[in-house]
Formats: sequence, C-alpha cells, structure tokens
Amino acid sequence: MSQRRDLIDLASLGRDGIGELIDHARCIRTSPPSTLRGRLAGREIVHLFLEPSTRTKISFKIAARRLGAEVVDFDGESSSLQKGESLFDTVRTIEAMGTDALIVRHREDGTAAGIAAVARGPIICAGEGVTAHPTQGLLDLLTLLDEFDSLAGRRIAIVGDIRHSRVARSDVEAFVASGAEVVCVAPRELHPEVLSEGTRFEEELEPLLPSLDAVILLRVQKERFAPDRPIDLERFVERYQFTAERLAATPPHCVVLHPGPLNRGVELTDAVADGPRSRVLKQVENGVAVRMAVLEWCLGETW
Ligand code: NCD
Repeated sequence: MSQRRDLIDLASLGRDGIGELIDHARCIRTSPPSTLRGRLAGREIVHLFLEPSTRTKISFKIAARRLGAEVVDFDGESSSLQKGESLFDTVRTIEAMGTDALIVRHREDGTAAGIAAVARGPIICAGEGVTAHPTQGLLDLLTLLDEFDSLAGRRIAIVGDIRHSRVARSDVEAFVASGAEVVCVAPRELHPEVLSEGTRFEEELEPLLPSLDAVILLRVQKERFAPDRPIDLERFVERYQFTAERLAATPPHCVVLHPGPLNRGVELTDAVADGPRSRVLKQVENGVAVRMAVLEWCLGETW
C-alpha cells in the first residue's frame, strides 16, 4: 500500500470509495473468521474517544480484534489533557510509541482533520461534532442495500433531531451518493444551520409516509441543546414519534433504522423498535463488518 488513507468523512471518500468499502464489508461478512484473523496481526490501534460512546467504540474494538490487531484505550479523563497538554501534542506522543492508527471521537467538528494534519499514521473519525460519522453512514447504507439491492430511486426519510446529528449528515452523503432521494423531516427548530446540498426538508411527516422505502429515526440530543432554546418534547412526540400506526401508513416493505442509543417512548415506541420491520440490531451487526473493512482499507498490506 503506497498512499496513507484517513477516513474523515464520506464526502471525501466519494461514490467509488463508498462502493469499494461496502463491497469489502460484504466480502468480510461471508469470509470464514480464520481467514480474517491474521490480516492486521501485530498492528496497534489507539482509541482516542473523547466523548461518550457505547456501540461505536465496542464495534471498532471487536472489528480490530477479529483482524488480529491490538487496541489500546486512551482515557481522556485521566490523561495529560487534564494538565493542559494540547490534543495535538498528545497525538504526537502516542504515535512516538510506534502505534499504527488512531480512531478519534470528539465533540468538536474538524478535530479528525486537524489531527490528520499533524499525525503520521491513519486517522479514522468515529463521530465528531455535528458533521461526521462516516462509519455509521456506511453501515446504514449496507443495511439498506441488504433490503433493496440498489438505492436508485428509493425514498428515505431521516426523522428527528437533524440539527445536532452527525449521523444525518453522513447518512445523507452515503444515500445520495447511492442514488436515493433523502427527505429530512423535523420541526423548524431542529433543522440544521447548514443544509447539505440537494437535501429536501419537510416539517410534516404524515403526508410522506405512504411513499417511503425506509425511515431513519434519530434521538433528540438533549445534551446538545442551548439552555435558552429548549425543545418541547411533548409536541415532538405528538408530531414525529414513530408508532405502530405511523408505521402502518408506510408501504409493507418500508424498514426502520436507528443509529442508537434509542430513547424509547420519544422518537419511537417499543412496538416499532422491537417489531419485524426494525433493523436496529442488523445495523449493529453490519457495523462490525463495515469497521473491519475500514480498518483494512487504512492499514491492510494488500488493499
Ligand atoms: C450517535 C452518535 O454518537 O453520533 N450514535 C452512534 O454513534 N451510533 C447518535 C446519538 O448520540 O444519538
């Protein structure tokens, strides 16, 4: 492998790069585990997660282990960041120990690109600020391609807190690159400040339901709301909560995705979350294959 590869966002990966990673993730899913175990043997990957994470962090860890790599956890709370060391000095210090790649989660937009500019090894963004969560975009795309083979001409709604959602942005990039029509549905106050090009926004969910092929539900990210701009949750639930009734108004093939964590009783009901059209756990399963593909793309000898 000649050129260093970072995964910062899906826009820079482009349609061909996205397709290549999806194909590789599919290939990994059908490969016997014994053929995968040695692919990143002896490589050391550092987890630089500076924001809470359950599924993304564990998923990257399992993905690395299944390829034979070692994962080292960086604990921000007990690190020299607390003594005033800059994040960039921390990165240079870690890399001087001879590590091979960094997986970064951060609350601020642009952090992964900033680290990539000073780092030696590949940088993988595991979600940052409100703009990028590339591996979530890829795993959501793979989950939809398992249903429809092609997304050309399919209509997908992303419903909920679009304003604070890095998942929404990466999903839009992945789905639009694959030929889908994406409609973002949210109350005015949850529309983002900067809209992704070509994305349609709607406030009303009901009229769209009969034409949808898939729905991505998003958590209302209460922790990111400015104190002077609270959200009326009751009103949100009334207008947007995905209930069995709303699901029944969609075509029978329409599936429901959610990146997690779920806030049951807010953006969706138990009946929808646990029902036959929910793909929530399929997304989690696909997440491991997608992250294995990404790790191999960044670190593999043969790709
Ligand atoms: C999301 C995130 O952190 O961006 N979850 C995830 O990584 N699957 C969404 C959220 O926090 O609601």
